[in-house]
Amino acid sequence: MPVPGSVRERAAELRREIEEHNHRYYVLDAPTISDAEYDRLFKELQRLEREHPELRSAGSPTQRVGGAPQTKFAKVVHRVPMLSIRNESAEKFDERCRKALGSDEIEYAAEPKLDGLAVTLIYESGMLALGATRGDGTTGENFTANLRTVKNIPSRLKGPRRPDKVEVRGEVLFPLAEFARLNEQQRRLGEREFVNPRNAAAGSVRQLDPRVTAGRPLSFFAYGVADGVKGIARHSELLDLLGQWGIPVAPERRVARGLKGLLEYYDYMRTRRDELPYEIDGVVYKVNSLADQSRLGSAHREPNFAAAHKYPPREETTQIVDIDVQVGRTGALTPVARLVPVFVGGVTVTNATLHNEDEIRRKDIHIGDFVIVRRAGDVIPEVVRVAIERRPGNARRFLMPTSCPECGSSVVKLPDEAAARCSGGLFCPAQRKQAILHFASRRAMDIEGLGDKLVDQLVERGLIKTPADLYQRKLNVAALAGLERMAEKSAANVVRAIDRSRRTTLARFVYALGIRNVGEATAADLARHFGSLDRMVQASEEDLQQVQDVGPVVAMSIRRFFTEPHNLEVIRQLRVGGVHWEETAPAPGKKAGALAGKTFVLTGTLPSMTREEARERIEALGGMVAGSVSKQTGFVVAGNEPGSKLDKARQLGVVVIDEAGLLRILKEPSS
Ligand code: IVH
Repeated sequence: MPVPGSVRERAAELRREIEEHNHRYYVLDAPTISDAEYDRLFKELQRLEREHPELRSAGSPTQRVGGAPQTKFAKVVHRVPMLSIRNESAEKFDERCRKALGSDEIEYAAEPKLDGLAVTLIYESGMLALGATRGDGTTGENFTANLRTVKNIPSRLKGPRRPDKVEVRGEVLFPLAEFARLNEQQRRLGEREFVNPRNAAAGSVRQLDPRVTAGRPLSFFAYGVADGVKGIARHSELLDLLGQWGIPVAPERRVARGLKGLLEYYDYMRTRRDELPYEIDGVVYKVNSLADQSRLGSAHREPNFAAAHKYPPREETTQIVDIDVQVGRTGALTPVARLVPVFVGGVTVTNATLHNEDEIRRKDIHIGDFVIVRRAGDVIPEVVRVAIERRPGNARRFLMPTSCPECGSSVVKLPDEAAARCSGGLFCPAQRKQAILHFASRRAMDIEGLGDKLVDQLVERGLIKTPADLYQRKLNVAALAGLERMAEKSAANVVRAIDRSRRTTLARFVYALGIRNVGEATAADLARHFGSLDRMVQASEEDLQQVQDVGPVVAMSIRRFFTEPHNLEVIRQLRVGGVHWEETAPAPGKKAGALAGKTFVLTGTLPSMTREEARERIEALGGMVAGSVSKQTGFVVAGNEPGSKLDKARQLGVVVIDEAGLLRILKEPSS
């Protein structure tokens, strides 16, 4: 029966695609689809060729083991080809072997399937003579100089029964822990990032300059020999012997009996998978007897004595339908990709965190993009990269909203932070519980008894939305006593504590507002400097920077908080609810006094007084203490180990005095 044209076309298309992906994978070390997807394409082609044998040709990618060797490196023809392993379940593999060997229970060697770069190492007279990659299985590339730099590959073998010549096969791995660091370094150098540890291993070995390889934390595990070892009956003993020669072998390898042993090993390694320092993508089963291995032979460039039993892939391709923004308890906005559901890492994944806007820009993620999603262990699913060549014409850029999706307050990004944040801290429902708990905490408004559990209930039942609601008349003993684990007596205590908290200090109140970057000390500095909330609310960023330790970032954060109308409304309601404090004199500087109009900047440690004392004494005379030096600064007071402020003072020609000088001014301010 002739092959239908559509099938012929599909097969041709698959070949083209697979060749393209082989090239990206093996030659460029930069694949654009997940392994699982590649496997699907490959299997589809294999199926078509099986169903229609006329389609088979020597040139088909199914007839070769891997990608073409890179031309710019020296080629090595493998004396014994480097085969690949058949993907097979434990059941099928065991059944096949038992039938072929006519045995009831077979002894197997079971090993992790290491996910790195396959290499072969030839030792002559105990010395490493040649190291090469697998290439297409027949011809690889000579990377002897590079492989010599891999720390745990011995350059000389030790121990017993070393043959004159032996060819060891194994995998070069890139440790997971170092992977993120490598990509960070690549980014810094403006170099291409690696998509996964396997490609990092390949890219690190396949370098023209061995010094680059030497700088990478690669490691190696052997899983077999091509030939050259005599007098050994079992594969497991062969690996033990390699170990004695100083060649690293995977410590997780085991001998397994029958199908039961294989399945136990499969489950055992799955539980260990997430804690291993390197990536594995399954386990490999091998008939342990070397004589039986020979009897089984090979077919289709795959040995019959071995099988790869894979775990669910950790990476899959899917599409981003939309990008939503979630607001966290601290007001941080996190973009989250909504995905076409995809089965990856053993579960169906529908969302993946995109972390922040910078990350989206860096990975060039658009809404509508096809992306590789990764889920390892219990880690939150992540978008690894975009399959850029599949970007649809209608893909859209993502823009961070300018107002909070939860409360409509403005969104700010402070210069030294990756996260964009909602600035409606007092008002935003996402931040509600956190804001109220902080407001009530001991060093803020000090409302005893208003803890986690109570705040949870109050918020969940809609009794309070903002801290201002604490001071509403409806939050009385009766309302509180109706809550779980709230007796009348404790309800009364909480109501009393709330009432007592109405009378507070400006410093506590400012701290209680929970302004980002304003801790207790800064709140106290602000209160002292401005003396009144209204003056603080109206202060410009420049004014704010006159306060000790308030730099541009903190000033901006305060300004944003006080420009958010929602926050001002909550503050107004708090005052209507009876929260009050004693306002002090107007901000120093405007105050009449002997040092009125004079600004001091303190730097370093003063010999006899703390900076706090110095400040109080300056302010008592109407002077101001500022955090940074400008042309307006009157004096810089330098103690021991002064900071950069001293240099700045010298640059600007500001008068520099020491503590003695300051004491003189404080005594006779007119001088
Ligand atoms: S034995 C008998 N053992 O998987 C076939 N290979 O898909 C020779 N691999 O090229 C390989 N871990 O790069 C063997 N424990 C292991 C392995 C392993 C990973 C790789 C190897 C090979 C590929 C075949």
